[in-house]
Amino acid sequence: MIRTWVLQDDRQSLVLASCQDRLPEIVYWGARLSESDDPESVARAVKLDVTGGMLDVNPDMSICPEARQSFPGQPGLSLRLENGLPLLPRFRFLSADATTHRLELAFSDERAQLNYTAYLELDPETHIITSWAEIEAKQTAVFVDWLSAPVFPAPQFGNEILDFSGRWCGEFQMNRTQWSAGMRFRENRTGRTGHEHFPGVLLPCHGATNTQGEAYGFHYGWSGGHRMVAEELPDGRRQIQFGHALGSQASPKQHFATAPLYSTYSGQGLNGCAVAFQRHLRDRIVQYPKPDRMRPVHYNCWEAVYFNHNLPDLKDIANRAAALGAERFVLDDGWFGTRDNDTRALSDWVIDARKYPDGLAPLIRHVHGLGMTFGIWFEPEMINPDSDVYRNHPDWALGDVDQVLGRHQKVLNMARADVRAYLFDRISAILAENDIDYIKWDHNRVLPMPDADQAHGAYALIDQVRTAFPKVELESCASGGGRIDFGILARTHRVWLSDSNDALERLKIQHNAALFLPMVVTGSHVGPRHCHTSGRTIDMGFRAWVAAQRHMGFEMDPRELTEDETRILCNVTNWWKSNRSWMTTADILRLDSADPAVLAEQQIARDGARFVVFAGKAETSRQILPRPLRLAGLDPKAHYRVSLANRADVETLSRGQPLLKSDSFDASGQFLMSQGVTLPWRFPLTMCVLDGSRL
Ligand code: GLA
Repeated sequence: MIRTWVLQDDRQSLVLASCQDRLPEIVYWGARLSESDDPESVARAVKLDVTGGMLDVNPDMSICPEARQSFPGQPGLSLRLENGLPLLPRFRFLSADATTHRLELAFSDERAQLNYTAYLELDPETHIITSWAEIEAKQTAVFVDWLSAPVFPAPQFGNEILDFSGRWCGEFQMNRTQWSAGMRFRENRTGRTGHEHFPGVLLPCHGATNTQGEAYGFHYGWSGGHRMVAEELPDGRRQIQFGHALGSQASPKQHFATAPLYSTYSGQGLNGCAVAFQRHLRDRIVQYPKPDRMRPVHYNCWEAVYFNHNLPDLKDIANRAAALGAERFVLDDGWFGTRDNDTRALSDWVIDARKYPDGLAPLIRHVHGLGMTFGIWFEPEMINPDSDVYRNHPDWALGDVDQVLGRHQKVLNMARADVRAYLFDRISAILAENDIDYIKWDHNRVLPMPDADQAHGAYALIDQVRTAFPKVELESCASGGGRIDFGILARTHRVWLSDSNDALERLKIQHNAALFLPMVVTGSHVGPRHCHTSGRTIDMGFRAWVAAQRHMGFEMDPRELTEDETRILCNVTNWWKSNRSWMTTADILRLDSADPAVLAEQQIARDGARFVVFAGKAETSRQILPRPLRLAGLDPKAHYRVSLANRADVETLSRGQPLLKSDSFDASGQFLMSQGVTLPWRFPLTMCVLDGSRL
């Protein structure tokens, strides 16, 4: 007997089939099937052969492959009883609750007193499939060493796995590995989302690029450290598993659920996946206190003053930031306890009376007087051993007493209600006494070991703060982009993508992060002229335009700006302000640049009526002149007007007359997508910004 279920939208179909009450397999996932494709026939048509040296029947590559079924790969579940012995269930169909776009499929093992339930929801507008799995141990608690979110097949018509690694100041580095026999195994054991292993993967089919071909995308929405298995079985089948990192669950439990896995199929290249993730995150996950409010231009004082806070300087900086166009002033680390450097005072969340004898009110009043709102930095989950709180509560720290410190700090045990109560009390006192509309919520070290309760504890505290102060927005920061995932973004509103304010590094990081993140949540600041984290010296034009690609802000000391730099920055900021209303809901399309020296993207409005292209020149080109840049996502039949927004920036060494240097030009979408745009010659570390509108 075969049971089948189908989830589909106008782009994709996903067909599940369960034979003889066993756990179902995804028997088809790809371009939307025809109405005449009967799911049961699909299930029969994909049945594989058997040959010499094999079992007599191929074990199912189900949504949770079972270890005791001679499955020739990684099982989807690994359980132990409290006495440490393995528990190897065999699940049988229990019930199905299926509506047009949602499935809840329950299976049980009566002997082992276990239930397994898989949930799959397809959002027909964003094209994202959200799925998660749950284990319920009905009699005794069990250790869940591994539970994969529902297992998806990976495409056979492709050879590449694209995933991401990174480091401090170097997030979202793309790895291209070839499928081959065995596993690509990524495990993040840092206990936070981490720089090192972003929990996402893209699987392009043969010939897929940013703009064309088929591709599949996955993201595991969890902030506590994950594991990914991309495995090719000996028989050639391929599976994708995502779940919590090994050891995340420290104690046996009767109920365990994975985080949501977000998946999508695209027939429009990697951009089809990217846009699905961007839209789903922006339109379904992030909850803005005031959704209609324009994203304000930020000023963050970290790289201007570090720990040296004093009121006259900060007021002066605020005056200058406001004059540049900032709309929110964020007071970073250094305002509390005796925090004069990063060796002490974390967790002593009282305003430093030496630096702020009258509290924060005078600074906040000043900032408000300049028409900016006020934001503040916290790193709630951390504690310095050199702090009053640690001296009183050494047992509040997670892990061994003699553990290795990270940035001189330990992690607070967020599973403890008393720790969360203390933190809530301190944070809410600061928020209640001061008019603050923004928190930069930091997390600057890895955990001593993975611990899911830690992530749940952090989520609970953030949720409590949000409930008590619903107007406050939050930014997720972890030494830059160490905690970026859809789990944290369900309770925050912006990510600090990287501590690198080097515009060149940022250009690259932003380009790859756009595979998952929309413009509106991605913070990007104009850094100092001499970059503090790379030592590079970068012109204001490039710094400003790279920041203008995302949620724009400033982080340099404005007292260092020359008149020229000020003028350029004000111009770009004004450009950003006059475009942000449509850019915040635009799709970011990564362009297939014919020149590897040029990293280019196009942000296109939801109604397709306007777009902007950012063509960032990351280095000098091998050939003399720019290659044409093909655009994407346009209506081939429509006509568009294209102009160079920063025409004045073009260097005098560009001596010829490409149209864009002197004028706008009109062309069909077909021309712009087939021939592309002829750009002027530019120096490295410059940006060409093209405004486009449909005529
Ligand atoms: C981390 C953040 C920085 C800054 C410092 C403050 O490194 O990523 O942006 O807030 O902490 O200590």
